[in-house]
Amino acid sequence: MATYPSTLGAAPKSFFLSNSLFNISLGTATPSRISSVKAAGECWTKHPAWTNVRQERWEGHLAVEGHLPTWLNGTYLRNGPGLWEVGDHSSHHIFDGYATLVRISFRRGCATGAHRQVESDAYKAARAHGRPLHREFSQLCPSEPGTLLDRVRDVVGLASGTLLTDNANVSVLPLGDGRVLCLTEATKGSVLIDPETLDTIGKFRYADRLWGLLQSAHPVVTGNELLTLLPDMFRRGHRVVRMAAGSNERKMVGRVHCRGGQAPGWVHSFAVTEKYIVVPEMPLRYSLAGVLKSQMTPWYLFDWLPESGSYMHAICRFTGKTVASVEVPPFMALHFINAYEQGDAIIADCCEYYADPSVIKALALRRLRSPGMNNDAFPDVRVARFSIPLDGTLMGELETVLDPEVHGRGVEMPSINPAYQGKEYRYVYACSARRPCNFLNCLTKIDLGEKEAKNWHELGSVPSEPFFVARPGGSDEDDGVVISIVSTMEGDGYALLLDAMTFQEIARVRLPYGLPYGFHGCWIPENV
Ligand SMILES: [Fe+2]
Repeated sequence: MATYPSTLGAAPKSFFLSNSLFNISLGTATPSRISSVKAAGECWTKHPAWTNVRQERWEGHLAVEGHLPTWLNGTYLRNGPGLWEVGDHSSHHIFDGYATLVRISFRRGCATGAHRQVESDAYKAARAHGRPLHREFSQLCPSEPGTLLDRVRDVVGLASGTLLTDNANVSVLPLGDGRVLCLTEATKGSVLIDPETLDTIGKFRYADRLWGLLQSAHPVVTGNELLTLLPDMFRRGHRVVRMAAGSNERKMVGRVHCRGGQAPGWVHSFAVTEKYIVVPEMPLRYSLAGVLKSQMTPWYLFDWLPESGSYMHAICRFTGKTVASVEVPPFMALHFINAYEQGDAIIADCCEYYADPSVIKALALRRLRSPGMNNDAFPDVRVARFSIPLDGTLMGELETVLDPEVHGRGVEMPSINPAYQGKEYRYVYACSARRPCNFLNCLTKIDLGEKEAKNWHELGSVPSEPFFVARPGGSDEDDGVVISIVSTMEGDGYALLLDAMTFQEIARVRLPYGLPYGFHGCWIPENV
């Protein structure tokens, strides 16, 4: 088994695992399972899910417990924040962490793996200076402005984009042409990586004139194109654009005009049907005043303005024309699951927080690391279904799809069989909850037809997004496996493979140590 310590050199000694509070030691891990809630709470402060990645890079063979399917040949990649402490600086929010890529490659029943930091400009600058120099999610500017000139300099830096981060820590996705892209919501945070070595190849350069500092970090990628949104602060809306596989040029599909407030609603993800692009407008809106004053709001970059209304928009994928713009009940959603056409309506499903934005605050690192202070504080979330009429009706509907108790009132980081994207579907795989908890601690398979769920849970474990991989040639929607990277309170980590049909465990692929929590993954089949 090969190991690779930092190869970049010049890192300050205090850069890695700089805060001893968050160091973990496998040598002192308790061998037997800790069963008491009190003990779990004590271990949680050092849980690898919220602890800096142990080293900058690692690569090697992985031991397999159980049996990997012989058809599972390809590479699973996952992106997410993995380093929150730099020098004496400690990040406030999970979204602030510098991107850590994880690779697990499967071939003929064996597995190899790697993790490595994405070498963004923001990461390299922080590494060189021992503190962040770019704006991350919960940090408006690199330092508290001291004078009016500082404030003006910061505002200019944010408006021009020079101070924005390129820390591409949200998603990783294949473009359909062999290239693999890591993204965050700043447009400059579009970074090409090598899916085998995890090398950072460089910035993705958009070959168009579609100016804009922000983008969706959750594009919808089909076999031949990428669809995404570019928020437009000045015209209060979103440009909907597409980029063909093999191209660097985005082209306008159409424009969505937001209807409430002074600024567009935050869109972390959106959905597509076979004909339409569905754009949500929730009352968590970008805070223009916050940017202009160089100040954080109580909701970081956003304002929560329920009185500004909630809306759902749909435009035609082919003509760009708006086909629906309806008011809906108040909602708060980070992730859309899927959407499809049904009669004279569009159905769009999402993980919805009962119109409560507090999940943003629940993801502060202090709260994640202190379950005793934050007992059962992860907000309730449900599978919610929008019905967006296409017949000119002005109001849309929003309903709970199934009893949230069956998934512990937790459902986030959803995935589906990609063959069903934009089509009527039945199964959702997601992180869920066993209460009390201050973060999602289960995996669930939800049957939207039967309105029931199967759950996987181990005490003290934090599983990340369960990513569905279809069996080649399979015909059933749930014929495949689900892959999730799990970190345990004992400091261990492994990739969990569940049979997607039964939701029973079929294998664990042991990682050398527990890894920090990650966000979103992708699958690259071996023959691509
Ligand atoms: Fe996301």
